[in-house]
Amino acid sequence: MDNQAIIEASTYIKNQLKEMPTIGLILGSGLGVLGDEITNPTVIPYKEIPHFPESTVAGHKGQLVIGELEGKQVIAMQGRFHYYEGYTMQQVTFPVRAMKELGVESLIVTNAAGGINESFQPGNLMIITDHVNNMGNNPLIGPNNDDFGPRFPDMSSVYDRKYIEHAKKCANDLGLNVQSGVYVGNTGPVYETPAEVRMLRTLGGDAVGMSTVPEVTVAGHAGLRVLGISCISNMAAGILDQPLTHSEVIETTEKVREDFLTFIKKIIQTL
Ligand code: HPA
Repeated sequence: MDNQAIIEASTYIKNQLKEMPTIGLILGSGLGVLGDEITNPTVIPYKEIPHFPESTVAGHKGQLVIGELEGKQVIAMQGRFHYYEGYTMQQVTFPVRAMKELGVESLIVTNAAGGINESFQPGNLMIITDHVNNMGNNPLIGPNNDDFGPRFPDMSSVYDRKYIEHAKKCANDLGLNVQSGVYVGNTGPVYETPAEVRMLRTLGGDAVGMSTVPEVTVAGHAGLRVLGISCISNMAAGILDQPLTHSEVIETTEKVREDFLTFIKKIIQTL
């Protein structure tokens, strides 16, 4: 995506703000409620922003909410773009570069994911310690945008180690039983087969979803400090003897809404 488009998008956003956000939030399926907690919000529908794609999936709102949360200036994406919707990897990650251009330094990425680790339970929250890109594509393929980062970005601690420790401490202080583990990004839109889930477990995955990896890759390239939180909305295919549905995913994220909100707000308070 060329710089002109990124600058036009971020300028459009900037022109509606008095204070610039420093923390970006990407809110996954069923987790958009966090955006409703932002005070004195400026709400900008994606369709108004130059070069922004539009969100199509149920449970996603498709707007930016910018304002104050726990004393910090934040910019939240209520709804994200998924590769399986047919967007290119560059479109999926465009908002991350727009946030970087706005001056955002930290990115909190959330998602709903299937639990691969059999010690997990639906409704658990998981701090992402690392990921496996199983999408067969990468948003940084193509000419490198040197203004954002290097040709061959280091990914050895793309999930900021201090943020992981900080999130663990917040969970502890709140008495929340929060898991941690490796997130595998698949393209979707199908849920996995049981054989694929066994494979992903062998490969070291703890949770699997259809997002996050592209955004975090581009955020890491741009030098943003990233924290990832998954909501384990279901056990991945084949673990329980029941089919997977999107409504189950949404129902579970709604059930853990309070824990999720408390957890993220605590993290932001002292980030
Ligand atoms: N697999 C992939 N993506 C998901 C799942 C899953 O089981 N649950 C929520 N998103």
